[in-house]
Amino acid sequence: MSFQNILLEKKENFALITINRPEKLNALNKDTIQELHDAFKKLDRNSAIKAIILTGSGEKAFVAGADIAEFAHFSVKEGSKLARKGQKQLFDFIENLKTPVIAAINGFALGGGLELAMACHFRIAGNNAKMGLPEVSLGVIPGYGGTQRLPQLVGKGRAMELIMTAQMINAEQALAFGLVNYVVPLEELLPQCEKIVSKIINNSPVAIGHAIKAINAGFKSNEKGYAAEIEAFGTCFGTADFKEGTTAFLEKRAAVFPGK
Ligand code: COA
Repeated sequence: MSFQNILLEKKENFALITINRPEKLNALNKDTIQELHDAFKKLDRNSAIKAIILTGSGEKAFVAGADIAEFAHFSVKEGSKLARKGQKQLFDFIENLKTPVIAAINGFALGGGLELAMACHFRIAGNNAKMGLPEVSLGVIPGYGGTQRLPQLVGKGRAMELIMTAQMINAEQALAFGLVNYVVPLEELLPQCEKIVSKIINNSPVAIGHAIKAINAGFKSNEKGYAAEIEAFGTCFGTADFKEGTTAFLEKRAAVFPGK
């Protein structure tokens, strides 16, 4: 299996996946999502791999979001399909893997990037990390599970504020909110993840897989929320606000929204 957009390194009993489009701040395009799916699927089936660490290449970004250039011209139907397919192929897929997945957040984790980190089983941040769901600044909403997983992790009020303001928070704020488990200097990010992995690998992989399943089962009542998110995400693609928001981003200017 060969990859163009990610790097896959197998160590003795765990694997490191690095999203590798640093020139686009590791933005998630269609091919990257497919490659991530393939890599996670393959690693989950490998009994020698007891944990997976996911990070971004370079020192600037984990993932700066879904690839705006790729979806800016999408219709309502294509918008809904983007969210539905992405959720199934990658975000729900990671959350339901039996192998533990740790997000090592090494810079910006925005939009789809934070949604990806939130789909991992837990998160460790470098002290340079900046996190947020800025979709409403583009005239759209989070579509990869962000409206469901952010309130699960930080509570409804904080999630409402973060999504409505589109603001970024730094690593320390994310730690205080419970969005990440630890904050460490960037150079210690992967060693810290590996330290946690070294504890995980002593335990029963079968029992860990069952624990993940049981923990996730407690959040199944969110299923309607994910479906509502997909529908609302698609609806945004038919609005003048969405056209203006995405066009403004690509033209590197501030958006002026026509509004409701
Ligand atoms: N989709 C597509 N391309 C993206 C991207 C995204 N989500 N995020 C960054 N890029 C691209 C930029 O277009 C730029 O490409 P170019 O050099 O070909 O013009 C490159 O990555 C570097 O980004 P740039 O904006 O120049 O870096 P910066 O340091 O000035 O700003 C950010 C960094 C993260 C603040 C800024 O890139 C940003 O706001 N990104 C979008 C975040 C977002 O809204 N994500 C949610 C998407 S749903």
